[in-house]
Amino acid sequence: MEIVCVTGAGGYVASWVVKELLAKGYVVHGTVRDLDDEKKNGHLKKLEHAKERLHLFKADLLDYAGLCIAIDGCMGVIHVATPVPAGKVKDPQAEMLEPAITGTRNVMNACLKTKVNKVVVVSSLFAIVANPSWPKDQTIDETCWSDSEFCMKSEKWYCASKVISEREALEFGKKNNLNVVAVCPSVVFGPMLQSIACTTNIILLNLFKGMNSFNLIELDRAEEDVDIPIVDVRDCAKALLLAYEKPESEGRYLCSSHMLKTTTLIQLLKNLFPHYNYPTDLRSSILNEDLNYTNEKLMNLGWSHRTLEETLVDSVKTMREAGLLS
Ligand SMILES: NC(=O)c1ccc[n+]([C@@H]2O[C@H](COP(=O)([O-])OP(=O)(O)OC[C@H]3O[C@@H](n4cnc5c(N)ncnc54)[C@H](OP(=O)(O)O)[C@@H]3O)[C@@H](O)[C@H]2O)c1
Repeated sequence: MEIVCVTGAGGYVASWVVKELLAKGYVVHGTVRDLDDEKKNGHLKKLEHAKERLHLFKADLLDYAGLCIAIDGCMGVIHVATPVPAGKVKDPQAEMLEPAITGTRNVMNACLKTKVNKVVVVSSLFAIVANPSWPKDQTIDETCWSDSEFCMKSEKWYCASKVISEREALEFGKKNNLNVVAVCPSVVFGPMLQSIACTTNIILLNLFKGMNSFNLIELDRAEEDVDIPIVDVRDCAKALLLAYEKPESEGRYLCSSHMLKTTTLIQLLKNLFPHYNYPTDLRSSILNEDLNYTNEKLMNLGWSHRTLEETLVDSVKTMREAGLLS
């Protein structure tokens, strides 16, 4: 049976990747930082087929030896782990840049050392769009790269960490003849498998409590009524598996399904769940621009996605089940 390693297995996106891989018959090596942390990782052991085919390994992204042990014997690696900001970043180098960039280097070197066939790196739409030099009418696609210097200067540490680590991973692949593919998801919503809310779960939860916290993910002008690009976590996992399994996948893939203004998202939530209190203090967008993007490359790989209503309804269902929302 084919073995695939998933880094940061207990996280929001990674848990769905592990679930999908197990459902498809793979043996999964999942890396976690604390094997004894049941609150963070206990849900993984309850996944269907986990008892027979999921093996957890302790590995921090800065622990090269630990990563080598987890990756050894694997045909493929889906590299998901990275620090995602959940508030003000105090020490960007130690909290964000070092684990993301050196961590990705460690994963790539471990893949080369252990002779992995294919690596899929989870990047972000923020590795594509954070570039002030794009003309307003630019169609955003995989040829676009965020400007890492701009990200660093404007203290967008998460964006910087994603663009630098993705670029390095793709270059490492070319230089070393290692098959590396990147997937760049937009804002991920949808049902949670884990019990601790991640940053984008918190952003959605906060909308039901009257708070707009899109600033957590360094969204430009987050306090204004701007375009929010969204993808369902299950569709994101599906994109990662397609990128892994399709022999023709190459380069990077923009992974986003819906684009709507914050006020439209809030109105949709109000229609679906009228009894919560929603934010009322969003400012009109000063630029009044529409972000134009295409997910054609991923669609051509065989990807499809859910409706936003399904994503939001299923998000709320699991948040209530987890006791995070009344
Ligand atoms: N959610 C989104 O909207 C979104 C959008 C685009 C891209 N992404 C990307 O998707 C991936 C997963 O994000 P997520 O939303 O699922 O967030 P998440 O639940 O916070 O997952 C992040 C994972 O990374 C692990 N991690 C963080 N620092 C680490 C380190 N130094 N060593 C080892 N593991 C470390 C965390 O482990 P612990 O549990 O031990 O902290 C956690 O498992 C990330 O690469 C993120 O950039 C997410």
